[in-house]
Amino acid sequence: MIVPGSSSQLLAAALAEETGDPLATPTYDRFPDGESLAAVPDFDAESATVVAATDSDAAWVELLQLQDAVREAGATDVTTVIPYMGYARQDRSFADGEPVSARAMARAISTGTDRVVLVNPHERDVAAFFDVPVDIVDAAAVLAEPLPADLADPLFLAPDEGAVDIAETVRDAYGTGEVDYFEKHRDRDTGAVEVSPSDAPVADRDVVVVDDIVATGSTMSESVSVLTDRGAAGVIAACVHPMLAANAVTKLRSAGVDRLVGTDTIERGCSVVSVASPLADALGSLGSN
Ligand code: R5P
Repeated sequence: MIVPGSSSQLLAAALAEETGDPLATPTYDRFPDGESLAAVPDFDAESATVVAATDSDAAWVELLQLQDAVREAGATDVTTVIPYMGYARQDRSFADGEPVSARAMARAISTGTDRVVLVNPHERDVAAFFDVPVDIVDAAAVLAEPLPADLADPLFLAPDEGAVDIAETVRDAYGTGEVDYFEKHRDRDTGAVEVSPSDAPVADRDVVVVDDIVATGSTMSESVSVLTDRGAAGVIAACVHPMLAANAVTKLRSAGVDRLVGTDTIERGCSVVSVASPLADALGSLGSN
């Protein structure tokens, strides 16, 4: 059975549709003292696929509870799909005394599962923190699906060098276009982002800025501003994980973005494409469903 975390209900349903597996209906409750209680009253299977984005501290607790609940209800095989893994960007101790948060989270998750599936983690190396086998799904190609077919001389732009692979994947799925990237500098104390444009001409072209995640929106909005100032015909912001924290959406609109598209690894208004199909393929090849 597919078992959704509360913030991944649409994706879990889409995955159940893709795989043909039954969809459990967990309950998500809270005690008066604030503690949460996620349960699987209708779970009835030997194999469980828990699907839960860990986009908040509460979601982490809920995921641990769902893993435990399915075992308690009789599951002998548990796969944990983490469409968006929170804390993955703290994958090393950046300053004296800081934790490697990704490792701490990975260890906790490993205790309740036989395997883990991650979708476009910020760094692939995060897989090494888990004590169980990890499969990584690159779902970026689905971001090409909602793009208009008639983009003008399209440029697929990564806002930093680390996102070039994703930009190339989206370009390849779209079928045509150039790929380029900006240089990015982020002040770790203030979080402020500065981008240095490349020499690629953008005037009168449609530009698709592609990143793995839009969190505060600083990286994407700085990139969009530069592109609109330089006369791009249209700018579409595309990301796998639309975290969109705080005022990210407003920052993007103020910067002049024409459209924001994301996947359902984090379910937001802009989640216009699903990663269910690449996830189903990955689960099928694992033979866990
Ligand atoms: C950084 O390397 C990532 O690929 C993203 O560019 C970054 O995490 C986005 O963060 P924000 O939206 O806060 O600028």
